[in-house]
Amino acid sequence: MPTADAERPLSALLSLAGRRAVITGAARGIGYATARRFAEAGAVVMLGDLDAESAAQAAAAIASDHGATIHSARLDVSKSDSVAAFADHSVRRMGGIDIWVNNAGVYPATPMVETSDEFWTHVIDVNLKGAFHGCREAAKRMIDGTLRPGRVIVNIASVAALRGRVSLTTYSAAKSGVLGLTRSAAMELAPHRIRVLAVTPSMAETPGVRELREAARGNTSAGSMLATMERDVMASFPLGRAAEADEVARVVLFCASDMAAFMTGSNILVDGGLTTR
Ligand SMILES: NC(=O)c1ccc[n+]([C@@H]2O[C@H](COP(=O)([O-])OP(=O)(O)OC[C@H]3O[C@@H](n4cnc5c(N)ncnc54)[C@H](O)[C@@H]3O)[C@@H](O)[C@H]2O)c1
Repeated sequence: MPTADAERPLSALLSLAGRRAVITGAARGIGYATARRFAEAGAVVMLGDLDAESAAQAAAAIASDHGATIHSARLDVSKSDSVAAFADHSVRRMGGIDIWVNNAGVYPATPMVETSDEFWTHVIDVNLKGAFHGCREAAKRMIDGTLRPGRVIVNIASVAALRGRVSLTTYSAAKSGVLGLTRSAAMELAPHRIRVLAVTPSMAETPGVRELREAARGNTSAGSMLATMERDVMASFPLGRAAEADEVARVVLFCASDMAAFMTGSNILVDGGLTTR
């Protein structure tokens, strides 16, 4: 017997009409590109970001381009009380949460031997604890006994979880943790029909990457190691280039939609073939 989804047209399977989506770190970069695609697909979207002013500007731009309902609020994913309050705010504004994308991340670079305890704590708190806070607070608000379809959590990981990266030891450790978190959360939430997926980009042109490149121009050991790493990475892309943020966003949209209804616990690579070498 085919599922009811097998009878639905592609446009309906890809549509997020009627879905309420939260995206963290959505003021710019991959999070912003994802918010744009979600709005285009018909979702009501809540943008959370540490930079509340930029998030509000981003929300206004998306609303005006897509005629969609877009909310924004300040959020610090590294603080559990901030994430809980933001999740409650999202429920109040949108009436519930169907999709939650843990995208907020930081990727400062420093050689391992120069890594301070404070640096380690900050990078782990934003990238790993932030994703955990998001998974927990989203799941708490999604579980309501109805087994309503269309509930999805997407965690943005990184190729740094799969490949050694000089000067990115803390970030690599955090993103490896995100992949473990994704698999176990998927197992735990499957009985509630909540899917959990990871999306793993390699390198996408975003404001964060441009800032990192700028920092690498400085005369520090991390800077020169990073510049070498970027040269090596760029030279080894089978597709010959880095991604645009929207190329990652389109895969996040696929994961969040009913197109991916039978996927949970997986890690989807959007890496231009980098990890095939
Ligand atoms: N761009 C890449 O090449 C690349 C590659 C692999 C993985 N990623 C991952 O993709 C995600 C997005 O990366 P990007 O390049 O778009 O980043 P970006 O730096 O361009 O944007 C990140 C956004 O997150 C926000 N943010 C930072 N700390 C936050 C916090 N504590 N709470 C809430 N918001 C916070 C920032 O204000 C910013 O708006 C990150 O998780 C990153 O690790 C990016």
